[in-house]
Amino acid sequence: MGISIILGQGYVGLPLAEALSEVGETVFGFDVNQGLVDNLNAGRSHVDDVSHEGVAKMIAAGYRATTDPADIAKADTVVICVPTPLNQSGGPDMSYVESAAALAAANLKPGALVVLESTTYPGTTTNLLRPLLEEGGRVLDKDFHLAFSPERIDPGNQKFNIRNTPKVVGGESPESGRLAVAYYSRFVSQIHQTKGTKEAETAKLLENTYRHVNIALINELAMFCHALDIDVWEVVKAASSKPYGFQAFYPGPGVGGHCIPVDPAYLSFEVKRRLGADFRFIETAMDINSGMPRYVVSRIQAILNREGKPLNGSKVLLLGIIYMPDIADLRESPSLEIFEILIDDGADARFFDPHVATVRVAGDVREREADLQQAIIESDVVVVLQAHSAFNLDAIVNSSKTVFDTRGVLSGANVERL
Ligand SMILES: NC(=O)c1ccc[n+]([C@@H]2O[C@H](COP(=O)([O-])OP(=O)(O)OC[C@H]3O[C@@H](n4cnc5c(N)ncnc54)[C@H](O)[C@@H]3O)[C@@H](O)[C@H]2O)c1
Repeated sequence: MGISIILGQGYVGLPLAEALSEVGETVFGFDVNQGLVDNLNAGRSHVDDVSHEGVAKMIAAGYRATTDPADIAKADTVVICVPTPLNQSGGPDMSYVESAAALAAANLKPGALVVLESTTYPGTTTNLLRPLLEEGGRVLDKDFHLAFSPERIDPGNQKFNIRNTPKVVGGESPESGRLAVAYYSRFVSQIHQTKGTKEAETAKLLENTYRHVNIALINELAMFCHALDIDVWEVVKAASSKPYGFQAFYPGPGVGGHCIPVDPAYLSFEVKRRLGADFRFIETAMDINSGMPRYVVSRIQAILNREGKPLNGSKVLLLGIIYMPDIADLRESPSLEIFEILIDDGADARFFDPHVATVRVAGDVREREADLQQAIIESDVVVVLQAHSAFNLDAIVNSSKTVFDTRGVLSGANVERL
């Protein structure tokens, strides 16, 4: 068994640290956030997929969270799991990867394997990471090894986790690839090795672009179906009866999270930068999905209008403001934009989500409704933005004047679906 250091102890890095710790690796969890590191060392997890007990077990097995870059020098393997968001102009913000890679380069143990797991544009490992690691005359496969392996974590998924989801691994050289495959084989049941790093980088972007584009297709279909008085949910159900050649995607209030709204931009940015071309599918999908919050508000407005009420001053209750069911990650949730538009348009908008106590919208911190039942009764329209399993859906329908269901889970005379 060896020593690993995981740079970044967030949604990706912490479950990885746990999986490694379980197979007997000594793991350091490095992060630049001192509060987070202190919490982890005190046995407190901030990630849905790792329990407090899980962190306690890791600590008992030798895990330690750290902010000290000197710990990098102790590790045989350095895995980089830092954020890759978009910058102000909508392009890749590589500053976290650059700073983590610079820390790795400055402290690397001779012969160590470095793996990048952060989602990124094709060519990052070769053109950004490798030169940083080669500084000072280090030579690939002599002084260090390098690979890219995208994370496929699906927060809240009860069936697939880091251990039983096949892992794509691409080496910067055959030797680096071999070492990286051996590393992940210790705790992942199936490895898919690519020819090189850029194929592995692009595979991750394809996976998330595929989801983004198909969600956009179904969202656009939903808008046309509504205008044509066709039940889109019935349409998807019917198409899903085909046992081959069709995968169901469902309409919704937009795309959220750290991956789906962000990753396709990494691909289209690189195509534009290197080839001067527009990735038209991605551009169109982004246009459709980013327009969904405004479309949802227009439907709320139409519902109120039918009842002779203006949006301005009406009581609108948003139920479930997280982009996925049963998790607590609010990042990039389209519900926040819906909330903001409603407030801007003068609605008396409130929210309830069992996983979120407060939220910052339109410059203010808003608390969730203290009494869900009371809030439902008092609202002119209740909007289901996320169907968390903690919700009693029948009770919501029975107590509401009108419900707008953006997830296709409710039915009843007072329910309108997206
Ligand atoms: N969350 C997901 O579901 C998911 C799934 C697949 C891939 N990814 C990708 O994995 C990467 C990490 O995402 P995440 O969700 O874990 O992010 P996160 O924000 O949850 O965690 C990242 C952590 O990195 C830390 N950090 C920032 N700069 C650092 C540095 N220089 N050195 C060490 N730590 C640093 C931050 O403090 C934070 O704790 C991203 O590229 C993301 O696109 C995420």
